Amino acid sequence: MRTRPLLLLVLCGGLWLNGYAVAAQGRGLRDLADKRGFYVGAAVAMRPFRTEAPYQETLKREFNIIVGENAFKWTGIHPNKGGYYFADADALVAFAAANRMKIRGHTLVWHKQLPRWVTGGSFTREEAVNLLRDHINTVVGRYKGKVIAWDVVNEAIDDETGGLRTSSFWYEKIGPDYIRMAFEFAHQADPAAKLYYNDYEAEDMGRKSDGVYRLLKELKAAGVPVDGVGWQMHVPNGFHITEAHRRNAARLAALGLEMTITELDVRTRVPASAADLQAQATAYREILGFCLSQPNCKALLAWGFTDKYSWIPGWYAGLGDALLFDKDYQPKPAYRALVEALRSASRRK
Ligand code: XIL
Repeated sequence: MRTRPLLLLVLCGGLWLNGYAVAAQGRGLRDLADKRGFYVGAAVAMRPFRTEAPYQETLKREFNIIVGENAFKWTGIHPNKGGYYFADADALVAFAAANRMKIRGHTLVWHKQLPRWVTGGSFTREEAVNLLRDHINTVVGRYKGKVIAWDVVNEAIDDETGGLRTSSFWYEKIGPDYIRMAFEFAHQADPAAKLYYNDYEAEDMGRKSDGVYRLLKELKAAGVPVDGVGWQMHVPNGFHITEAHRRNAARLAALGLEMTITELDVRTRVPASAADLQAQATAYREILGFCLSQPNCKALLAWGFTDKYSWIPGWYAGLGDALLFDKDYQPKPAYRALVEALRSASRRK
């Protein structure tokens, strides 16, 4: 009987060290990130944001930056010709401001999630340029001084060739110059916003990351206002940071670019075993530790935060459980790994 309180104390102490208590006490990752001068965040899906109380509560407690999962995309914000729909993006911007969070905008130019009135319309080159200019002026202008960073161009590099993706509305209508134009229009609309090029599977060394590097080098050499590179990092479980990631990050930093891990998730088989969840935690820890070790790596955002709402099961058959919290909003080992990584990192500002 006498040993019970002691046992409890030891157990609680262990849990505390493991980071459970951070969430339980309502302090969250965001306090740890704030103390380090770092941004840790998540993509926000509108339906649970509007309908499910723990969704907003968790966001507020844990993160100091958010991004719209779909709200700022063309299909979300510009669904009709001449007709914008700002309600969702406005709600996210207001939520961020009310809760002292930063917000990123995703994305202005992408070959996907374009409304049919765009892809199915007939546009001359000049009309397509005007469409791009009007859209960027309107969207970036509306959130000027509020959205701190934009994924101006998303996924423009071809997986196979490392050259520009040619099967894209923007490439087809405008040609390779659409990229330069998009950054220039965004810079005109909000000169203070950080403007990013964002892509996937271009994180270690290889043909695709060479292509991203080449593009960014050319843009920089031409004086195009690009500030940063986004690494999406939708990675499979078992992922590790390698020397190749460091080399690629170093060459991008040498161009004078900042970077952000923009869409992190670590997909695992479902149901995940305890070992799967530990491996996932290792991946999250290594990725955050890597970002914290790079002075130009400003933020890490996961692509969602609860396994209840994630794009992974819909896109990768048999996989899921890729995020920091389980379906009941309880922290997973990956969450505690991020707590530990932030705790052991030094202050950055
Ligand atoms: C995904 C969203 O999560 C889904 O809800 C949507 O149906 C499709 O797009 N790379 C990106 C993101 O840049 O915009 C994608 O988001 C995931 C891959």
